[in-house]
Amino acid sequence: MFKIGVLVSGGGSNLQSIIDKSQSGELQCKVEVVIGDRECYGVERAKKAGIDGYILDRKVLKKELCRAIDKIVTEKDVDLIILAGFLSIIDEEFVNKWKEKIINIHPSLLPKFGGPGMYGIKVHEAVLNAGEKESGCTVHYVDTGVDSGEIIAQKKVAVLEGDTPEVLQKRVLVEEHKLLPESIAKIILERK
Ligand code: GRF
Repeated sequence: MFKIGVLVSGGGSNLQSIIDKSQSGELQCKVEVVIGDRECYGVERAKKAGIDGYILDRKVLKKELCRAIDKIVTEKDVDLIILAGFLSIIDEEFVNKWKEKIINIHPSLLPKFGGPGMYGIKVHEAVLNAGEKESGCTVHYVDTGVDSGEIIAQKKVAVLEGDTPEVLQKRVLVEEHKLLPESIAKIILERK
């Protein structure tokens, strides 16, 4: 079975979409471990689903965070690492060791509205301020830059008259919950 490790910092709704589809058999993989870089609901979701969950406090571990993550995902022998709302920056040593085995989901149509400081609601504020007519989400491989790795798949949504950043964020999130499992399925097929 294809084994997945998921890194989270927040609510973990994208993690939940993977857990649900892997448990229903729609996605041929097993979430082996979930790691949070702080106390967060994402790690709670893992525990509720009977998945090993760890909190590695980034404020305590600082530069050792990636080494600590590496130790766990190596022990769990995962085939793919997913950054699903993970806010810490992954260091070069980790990226090089797990080359083409780390993917990230970002709530915009990259390369637009990505890069340092572009996360959470700020992305959607920037999209609205720029007067964009469409937005969406992107799943991409993680390289040593921020939001700069090879794009795996994207989904678009319309930006509507009167949208607030929060309303747009919700519309994009609905598509994220489809895009992430679809992207994982694509990778599993390619690796078979
Ligand atoms: C999502 O919008 C994702 O694209 C971004 O962080 C958010 C995480 O949401 N990287 P959740 O924790 O999965 O609900």
